[in-house]
Amino acid sequence: MDRPDGPTLGSQEQLFGSLVVALGAPGPALAHALDRARAAAAAFGAKVEAGDDGTIVTTLAGSGSARDRARQAARCALALRDVLGDWPLAVTTSRAGLVGADGLDVTTAMLRAMPPYTDATRRARPIAIDGTTAGLLDARFEIVGHDGQLGLRRERPGADAEAPRTLLGRPTPFVGREREMATLEAVVRGCLDDATAHAVLLTGPPGVGKSRLRREFVQLVRRRHERIEVWIARGDPMSAGSPLGMLAQVVRTVAGVRDSDTLRTRQAKLSARLSRQLAGDDLTRVTEFLGELADIRFPEAKSAQLRAARRSHVLMGDQMRRAWEDFLAAECAAQPVLLVLEDLHWGDLPTVSFLDGAMRNLRDAPLMILALGQPDVHRLFPQLWSGHALTEMRLGELSRKASERLVREVVGDAIAEPSMARIVAQAAGNAFYLEELIRSVAEGRADLPSTVLVMVQARLASLDPEARRVLRLASVFGATFWRAGVTALLGDDGAERHVGEQLDELVRRELIAHRDNGRFAEEYTFRHGLVRDAVYGALTDADRQAAHHLAGQWLERAGETDAMVLAEQFERGGDRQRAVAWYERAASQALDGNDYRTAIERADRAIACGATPTERGALLALQAEAHRWTGEFDAAATRLDEAAKLLPEGGGRWYEVTSELLAARVRAGATASLAAVDVLADRLMDAAAAPDAHAAQIIAWSRAAVSLVFSGAGALAERLFARIEAAAVDAGDRVLVGRVHQARATRAMAAGDVAGYLDHTMESAQAFDAAGDVRTACVQQNNAGYALAMLGALGEAEAALRKALVAADRMGMTSTAGVARQNLGLVLAYSGALQEARAVEERGIETAHASGDALMTACGHAYLAEILTIGRNYEAAERAARMAVTLVGDRDHEVRAMAQAALARVLLATHRAPEALVAAQKAFALLPVVGSVGAEAPVRLVHAEALRAAGDEGAAREALRVARDRLMERASRIASPAMRASFLGQVPANARTTVLATEWGVD
Ligand SMILES: Nc1ncnc2c1ncn2[C@@H]1O[C@H](COP(=O)(O)OP(=O)(O)O)[C@@H](O)[C@H]1O
Ligand SMILES: [Mg+2]
Repeated sequence: MDRPDGPTLGSQEQLFGSLVVALGAPGPALAHALDRARAAAAAFGAKVEAGDDGTIVTTLAGSGSARDRARQAARCALALRDVLGDWPLAVTTSRAGLVGADGLDVTTAMLRAMPPYTDATRRARPIAIDGTTAGLLDARFEIVGHDGQLGLRRERPGADAEAPRTLLGRPTPFVGREREMATLEAVVRGCLDDATAHAVLLTGPPGVGKSRLRREFVQLVRRRHERIEVWIARGDPMSAGSPLGMLAQVVRTVAGVRDSDTLRTRQAKLSARLSRQLAGDDLTRVTEFLGELADIRFPEAKSAQLRAARRSHVLMGDQMRRAWEDFLAAECAAQPVLLVLEDLHWGDLPTVSFLDGAMRNLRDAPLMILALGQPDVHRLFPQLWSGHALTEMRLGELSRKASERLVREVVGDAIAEPSMARIVAQAAGNAFYLEELIRSVAEGRADLPSTVLVMVQARLASLDPEARRVLRLASVFGATFWRAGVTALLGDDGAERHVGEQLDELVRRELIAHRDNGRFAEEYTFRHGLVRDAVYGALTDADRQAAHHLAGQWLERAGETDAMVLAEQFERGGDRQRAVAWYERAASQALDGNDYRTAIERADRAIACGATPTERGALLALQAEAHRWTGEFDAAATRLDEAAKLLPEGGGRWYEVTSELLAARVRAGATASLAAVDVLADRLMDAAAAPDAHAAQIIAWSRAAVSLVFSGAGALAERLFARIEAAAVDAGDRVLVGRVHQARATRAMAAGDVAGYLDHTMESAQAFDAAGDVRTACVQQNNAGYALAMLGALGEAEAALRKALVAADRMGMTSTAGVARQNLGLVLAYSGALQEARAVEERGIETAHASGDALMTACGHAYLAEILTIGRNYEAAERAARMAVTLVGDRDHEVRAMAQAALARVLLATHRAPEALVAAQKAFALLPVVGSVGAEAPVRLVHAEALRAAGDEGAAREALRVARDRLMERASRIASPAMRASFLGQVPANARTTVLATEWGVD
C-alpha cells in the first residue's frame, strides 16, 4: 500500500508505542481536520501528523507501562472520533517491536479493510482495534466484534466499580465491621508484601452482610493498590454446582467476553487478553484450554492437543487445570491478583479443586482468594483449601451500636427511642432485616411484621400487579436476569416498552439493581437472594413450568453457555428431551473437572429425563469412567456391560466401552469369564469400524491386548498385536501413537525384553507429551525410569524418576508420585546412597499407605527390605520383609515373589538357612506366573544360595546355572553393549549371579 514518505514518518524514526490512524482524504479538509485532531490529542501527549494520502497518524510513545499507553491510545482514539466525525479510525499497539513504518502499514491495512460507512452505521461504528491493544485494556472499555475484527465502542464511566445499593434512595454508611476489615487488609498486605498465596473464607447466614463487607474491601483494595487485578465470580442458585462454572465466569470476565458476542469475537478477545502475559506455544495452548473451560471453543483441526483432550475427560481436565495455573502464574508474576468468589455455596467442586491446585503450586505468588458463602459451604466442600494458608472468618451479627448508627444515619435523629429499640432488637444484628425494618418504619407502617419473609411479601404486595408479574418471571432466571429475557417471558407485544418502565420502578423501589458489564445486555440482579426466594415462591406450578421452558429457550438463543443452567431450566420447564442433552454435557464437564460424584449424578438425571438408548449408552459409559476413577470397579463393569449393548457397534464410543469391559473382566480375574473375554476380543476384531472410528479401533485393540498379555491369554493377545501391527497408524495422531507404543512395550516386557520395553515406553512418553497428555507421559516416564533401573543404567534411571516425580507432584498425581519414590529408593540404594534411599522409600510407602493402596504399600516394603539388607540393617529389614509378605497376601504374583525373596535374603544373611529356604522356595514357585522380569533374577539367586546354605550343593549349583543362563539369554537380547554391560554389572542381583557362577565353578 501507499505510505507517506514525508520526512516525519520515515521508517528511520522507529517509534515505540501505540498508533491511532484516521483515514480521510487528501485535500483542504485535511488541514482543518488536522487542527481539530491536534487539539483533541494534546491532552494525551500524542504526536499528530498528516500523511499526504489523507491519513492522520497519531503516535503515543514514551514512558509508562504498555497498559497505560494502550489506555491512553484508546481514549485518544475515542476523542478523535468525537472531533473527526465519520472518519474511519483504527488503533494498534506494538509492544515489543517498532511501530514505525510496519505498525503504520498494519494499521492502515486494517482501516482499508473496513467496509465503507453508510449513514446508518456512521455514529454507532466502533473504532477498529488490534488484539494487542484490546488485550491491554480493562473491562471499562467496551470491545465488540466487528466485521471479523475487534472494535472499540466506548469507555463506560466507572463501570469498573459496582453501583452501591441504596436504602430509601441513599447509599448507606458501612457500619461495625472494623475488625473484619482490618483482618482482610492484613491478609492482602501479607500477600503483596511477602508474595504469598492466601485464602480467606467468609461465612455467615444470608443477610448478615458478607457481600457488603466484600464490596467495601474490594473498593479499598482498588484504591490502595493500583496495579492489583481484581476478579469476581458469583454463584447463582440456577447454576449451582455447574462444573467449573465459577472459573469460567472468571475467564470470561477477565477477557471482557459477553455471552452475546459471536464465537469469533470471544476467541479474539480471549487471545488478546491472554497475550498480555503469555506468548508463543504457551499462549496458544492456554488460550485453547481456557477457551474450552469458558466455553469459547477453538477448532481442533489445527491443534493436536485439543483433539487429544476432547477424546479424554482426564486429559481435558488436566489440560484445563494446567492452562488455568499457567495463566494465573503469569498474571501473578506481572501483578498481584485478588480473586473473589461470591456465594460459593452455589459454586462447584471443580472450581474449588482447581483453586486448591493453584494454591499448592503458586504458594509464593501474590495471590489472595476471598470466598464468601453461607455456613453450609462446609458441607458442600468439606475439604475447602484445608491444606493451605487459609483464614476463616465467621461473620457475626452487627452489634447493637452499629445497628443503631445505621438506623440513625438513614432515618435521622427523629426516630423515637422505643421504635429504635424495637427495630434493633428485632433485626438481631442481621443487616438485611435491619434495612427492611427501617423501610417499614419510614413508610409509616406501625406494626412491624414478624419475619423477614412476611416483611418482603408485604412490600411486594404494595407493588403494581404488573410489576409484581415482571418480578415473578424474572425470578425464574435465578438471582440474575436480563430485560430481554423477561420480555420474552411476558410474551405480549407491548411488553418491550413497559418492561423497561417496570424495571426502572423496581430499581427505584430497591428490590432489584441494574448491573453494568453483565453477561447479556441490560442485566439486573435481585437486591438479595431472600427477595428472589420470596418472589419465586409466589409462582403457581403451571406458571413456573411454562416460564422455565421459555426461559430455557431464551437463554439457549441468547448464547447461555452453562450446561447446568440450561438443563435445569428445561427440566423444570418440562422439556425433558432437551434437558437430557444439557445434563449429558454437564456430566461430561464434571468429569473434565474430576468431580466424579457429580458426573454420575448428572448422568442419572439425564437418564431419568428419558434418554434414548444411544444416549443412555453414552451416559453409562461416562458413569463407568467416573466409577473407575473412584476405584469402584464392579459398578464400572456393570455399567459398561449395559452400555456395550446400547451403543451402535463399530462406533468410537462402542470401541472404548467394549475394550474397557474386556479389561474389567480380565481384572476381575474370573477364569470362568475368560470365554466371555474371548467373545469380546473377537467382536473387537470383527466389527466394522465407522469411518471416524479408526483410531478408536486401534486404541481399543491396544487396550485389550495390554490387559490380556499377563492374564494367561497370551495367544489371544498375540492375535490382537498382529492386528495392531498390520493397521495403518496415523503418525500425526500422537495419542494413537502413544497407545500403540504402550502396547508394544507391554508385549516386550511379557517376553522378557527389557530393552525393548524401555524403547517403546520412551517413545510412548514422548508421544503423550506431544499430545499434551502430561499425566500419561508422566506415568510412562516413571515406567521408563523403572526399566532403566532394571538395565542397571542407574544415573539415567535416577534422572528419569526425578523428572517423573516433579511432574507427578505438580499435577497432584499422588499415587504416581508414590510409585516414582519407591522406584527411586531402589535406584539410590543400587548406587550406594543408602541413607537417601531409605528416606525416599519410606516416603513412597507413606503415600501408598495413605491412599489405601495395599499392593503398592507391600511392594514398597519389599524394596525397603532390600535397601536395608544392602545396608546390613537386618533387624529392620526383616520387619519390612515380613510386613510386605503380610500386606500382599495372595494378591499379586510378582509382589508376592519379591516379598518372599526379600525375606529369604535377610534370613540368609542372619544364618537361618532352613527358614530362608522355605521363603526362597515360596518365591521360586511363583516364577512361572510372574509376568515381568524385575523379580526373576533376585528370586533365582536367593533360591540357589538358600539351597547351598541348607546343604544341598548339587541343587544349588543347578539352580544357579539356570539363573545364570536365563540372565545371559536376557542380556544377549540387549542390543547396546553399554546397556548389556550395565545390566550385568550394575544390578546387584545380576552382578552377584555372575560372580557366584564363577566362584562356584558353574560351567
Ligand atoms: N456493615 C454494614 N453496614 C451497613 N449496611 C450493611 C452492612 N452489612 C450489610 N449491609 C446491608 O445489608 C444488606 C444485606 O447485606 P449483604 O451483604 O447483601 O448480606 P449477605 O451477602 O451476607 O447475604 C445489604 O443491602 C447491605 O448493603
Ligand atoms: Mg451476599
